[in-house]
Amino acid sequence: MDGLDRVPFNVVPNPAPTPAAERAKLVAAPGFGRVFTDHMVTIRYAEGKGWHDARVEARRPLTLDPATAVLHYAQEIFEGLKAYRTPSGGAAMFRPDANARRFRQSAERLAMAPLPEGLFVESLRRLVEADREWIPAVDVGTLYLRPFMIADDVFLGVKPSATYLYMVIASPVGAYFKNGADGVTVWVAQQDTRAARGGTGAAKCGGNYAASLQAQAEAVRNGCDQVVFLDAIERRKIEELGGMNVCFVFADGSLQTPPLDGTILPGITRDSILRLARDSGMTVREEAYTLDQWKADAASGRLTEVFACGTAAVITPIGRIRSPEGEFIAGAAGPAGGPVTQRLRKQLVDIQTGRSADPYGWVHSVC
Ligand code: PLP
Ligand code: COI
Repeated sequence: MDGLDRVPFNVVPNPAPTPAAERAKLVAAPGFGRVFTDHMVTIRYAEGKGWHDARVEARRPLTLDPATAVLHYAQEIFEGLKAYRTPSGGAAMFRPDANARRFRQSAERLAMAPLPEGLFVESLRRLVEADREWIPAVDVGTLYLRPFMIADDVFLGVKPSATYLYMVIASPVGAYFKNGADGVTVWVAQQDTRAARGGTGAAKCGGNYAASLQAQAEAVRNGCDQVVFLDAIERRKIEELGGMNVCFVFADGSLQTPPLDGTILPGITRDSILRLARDSGMTVREEAYTLDQWKADAASGRLTEVFACGTAAVITPIGRIRSPEGEFIAGAAGPAGGPVTQRLRKQLVDIQTGRSADPYGWVHSVC
């Protein structure tokens, strides 16, 4: 930790926490993103003063002036990662240092004050410790952590804010897709693209998600679970889904995924899977793949499995691709995926939950 990281935390436990019986009920069937814990973290930044006033306190609503900068120009970034119940009853987080790095990179892209990476990880550790009783049992789910930062200057001029509010909230979660194991159906975005070179595609900022919602709504209208975006220039290359990266598995045992060229989010799940695949002897290519090629390879049997990967989705088979031209089965192994998807998912989840050894130093024990 450098000196900047040492901001003392003031911890004030929630004086009226959720009663244990109610909490147990909520945590037993949490759904995704609707149940929240008793505490939150806040840390403030001001130009000339730096990061200060770090707190863990009762979760409560924010009061914002109507002229608060984020409400107008969307200077906002966030992260998403999970804490797991370990076999010994403790808690561990998966690669929080990688989220810390991406959060800093997102802050730089949005001209926001970068939070020291050590302070980011410490803030998560503090919240998981305070809300450890909210972590679901390992066969039910995980505690989803949502760090985020907003520009909270009260000023209508278009310029980087002079003050920021960083926060972390937590939400016990189950599976993101209800029937994910059977394979999800994705809709090819028709008009909208997600990001272009030089844009904010590689940053995790709220604006990217706001801009994805029209296409996601189009996907749902067409009976699909998620939207898949194509590149902004040729409209041929696969980019990523609304909230996940995508990987292709071939009959020759190789794995391919779109490259990190600035237009997709550099997923931490993606990075972990590429590592696991390479270490298991698979050939891994980070290369563009077109929708036409996808359709041809699925039909010929050259492409066997396709899956979505991300913190929320973990590894979910992609079953079918739909567009106004029709539908095709994503890979020759069938809509529910196949053995490579299953093996990689198990390998990843076993490391995350402490069921198998972690040779990579990815798992950070909390308590
Ligand atoms: N792509 C997008 C657009 C996402 O929202 C996410 C989820 O965070 C991912 C990819 C996967 O990233 P990660 O594996 O770090 O969760
Ligand atoms: C995540 O996986 O953490 C995301 O941010 C994506 C969203 C689908 C919840």
